[in-house]
Amino acid sequence: MSDWTSGYVADVEYTTGYFVELNPVRLPIGLLNAGYAPPKVRNACELGFGQGMSIAMHAAAQPHVNWYGDDFNPDHVLFARWLNDSAGANAELTDESFEQFCSRDDLPMFDSIGLHGVWTWVSPQNRDIIIDFINRKLNVGGVVYCSYNVMPGWSTAAPLRELMKLHTRMTAGAGMGSGEKMEAALNFIGEMFDRDPQYQAANPQAKAKFEQMKTMPPGYLSHEYMNSNWDLMYFSDIADMLGAAKLQFACSASYQEAVEETQFTPAQRAWLAGVDNEPFRETMKDFMRNTQFRKDYWVKGGLALPQAERIERIRDVRVVLQVQRANVPLTVSSALGDVTLVPEIYGPIVDFLADNRPHSIRDIEIGIQDKNIQFGQVLQALMLLTGLGQVGFAQSDTEIAAARAHTQKLNTALLRRAEAEDGINYLASPVTGGAIAVARVDQLFLKGWADGLAEPADWGDSAWRVLEAGGVRVIKDGQPLNSAEENRVALVEAAEKFRGTLLVLFQGLEIAVPRKVSPAGRKGGR
Ligand SMILES: C[S@@+](CC[C@H](N)C(=O)[O-])C[C@H]1O[C@@H](n2cnc3c(N)ncnc32)[C@H](O)[C@@H]1O
Repeated sequence: MSDWTSGYVADVEYTTGYFVELNPVRLPIGLLNAGYAPPKVRNACELGFGQGMSIAMHAAAQPHVNWYGDDFNPDHVLFARWLNDSAGANAELTDESFEQFCSRDDLPMFDSIGLHGVWTWVSPQNRDIIIDFINRKLNVGGVVYCSYNVMPGWSTAAPLRELMKLHTRMTAGAGMGSGEKMEAALNFIGEMFDRDPQYQAANPQAKAKFEQMKTMPPGYLSHEYMNSNWDLMYFSDIADMLGAAKLQFACSASYQEAVEETQFTPAQRAWLAGVDNEPFRETMKDFMRNTQFRKDYWVKGGLALPQAERIERIRDVRVVLQVQRANVPLTVSSALGDVTLVPEIYGPIVDFLADNRPHSIRDIEIGIQDKNIQFGQVLQALMLLTGLGQVGFAQSDTEIAAARAHTQKLNTALLRRAEAEDGINYLASPVTGGAIAVARVDQLFLKGWADGLAEPADWGDSAWRVLEAGGVRVIKDGQPLNSAEENRVALVEAAEKFRGTLLVLFQGLEIAVPRKVSPAGRKGGR
C-alpha cells in the first residue's frame, strides 16, 4: 500500500456511527448557557467524517447549510456519497487528506467546523494543518466541535494500547490486516492477564477496560488503537494548541455536564470554583472525574451577551422529546452515580413535551406556569435531558419544511437497504436536523407501514419474510426462536407494540411519513 495513510489505519473501514454533537442545531443552548452568542450557521465543515453518517444526515436535514467535508479513505467517501446522493443533498464530500483539503483556496469561510474522533488519533503535523485551517477558515464568532482522549483517565489503561502496538510490531506477519493484528494482540494480552501480572494488582481497572475492549467491533478497535499516532493530552495542552487558532473553550458538548450537581460533590465544586484560570479548572475537573474522553465546543471570539438577552434567546430555543414519554427514566447515571430526577420538576416538563412535537422553551414555561417551576430549573432540566439524548433540539418550521423532501428520500433508501442488510441503525429527521437511532426490525416495520400495508400483522409478516430470507431468527429470552411460525408470531406481536409506541414517536419526528402508493401496491404487493 502507498503511504497516503500517514500511518493511519485504512485497511479496515470505520463504524457507521452518528454523532449528535456535530449537529449545529444544538449549538445555541450550550453557547447561550455559557454566555456566548451562537453563530448563524450557513457554511459547515466536518474533517475526517469517517463513513459520513453524521455529515450526510446533516446535509439531508439542513439543506439551508452548505456542507463540506473530507476523509482520505475512499471506501468511506463512497458510502458517504451514497447517503448524500440518496437524499438529493449537496454536501461536497472529498477523499482529500487534511493536507490537501485544508490548503484549498476555493472553500468558503465556515461558521462551524467539527471533528470527532480525529484530534488525538492523527500526527502532530496533521494537528498543525487543522489548527492553521481553523485559524484561516473559521469565521469570527464561529464554533469548533472537537473530541479527544484525555488524561488522567487513560493513565491506568494506556499501557494496554502500548502493548497492542508492541505486540503488532514484534510479531505481525507480512500481509496481516489490522483486524488480524488486533485479534492476535487481544489474545496475547488475555494470556498476560491470565497470569496475574502485578500490573493488574496495581491497576485494578485495567482488566475491566480490557474486557470492555474485547466486546467492541474490529473496525472501531483498529481505528482507535492501531494507528501510528495515539496521543494522550491534558485539557490544558489542547487549550494551548487550539488557542493558536484564536479559539477559547466555550462549554462541554455533553450538556449534562453543565449540571454541576450531577458531576461533582459540594466540596469539589467549592474547590473548583476557586480555580480562576478556565483551562486549568477544566483540567482539574478531569482529575475529579478521571476523564478519558472529552467532547467540547470552542468559539473564535466570544461575544458575551447581556443576561436579559441571553435568557430571551434561550427561551426561543425549540426542543422535542425524542423518546416516548413513558421511557423517560426516573433516575439517570452521572459522574456521581445514580441521580433521581425531581418528579415535581421533570414530570411537568416531559408531560408538556409528550406529543413528540417541537416546542420552544418559552412555550414550556407558559404551559407549566401553574407548577411553580422557575426558568433556571427548566433550563437545568433541559441541559440534563438533552445531554442524555432524551430531548433533542428542533429546527424552525421553515427549515423543517425545506428538509422534508431530502430526509424522506434518504429514509426511503435506508429502509430499502434495511431489507437487504443490517448495520445502519439511523434514520433522518427534518425536525432535529439530524439522525435518530432506529433498530433494523423497527425499520422493517416502518417500511411496511410506509408502503401502505394496513395492519401490524402485515408489517410483522413482511419483516419475517426479510429476516427469514437472510437466515436471521428472533431472539427471545436469550434463545433464537426455531420454527417459522414462532418467529412470525413474535414479530407480529412486536409490530403491534410498535404501532402504539415508536410509530407515534417517529411520526412526531417526521421519520414516519407514509409513501403514496397506488392501490395495486398495497397489502401483499411487494
Ligand atoms: C476514528 S475515525 C472517526 C470518523 C468519524 N469522524 C466518526 O467519528 O465516525 C477518524 C477518521 O479520520 C480519517 N483520517 C485520518 N487521518 C486523515 C487525514 N490525514 N486526512 C483525512 N482523513 C483522515 C480516517 O480515515 C477516519 O475515517
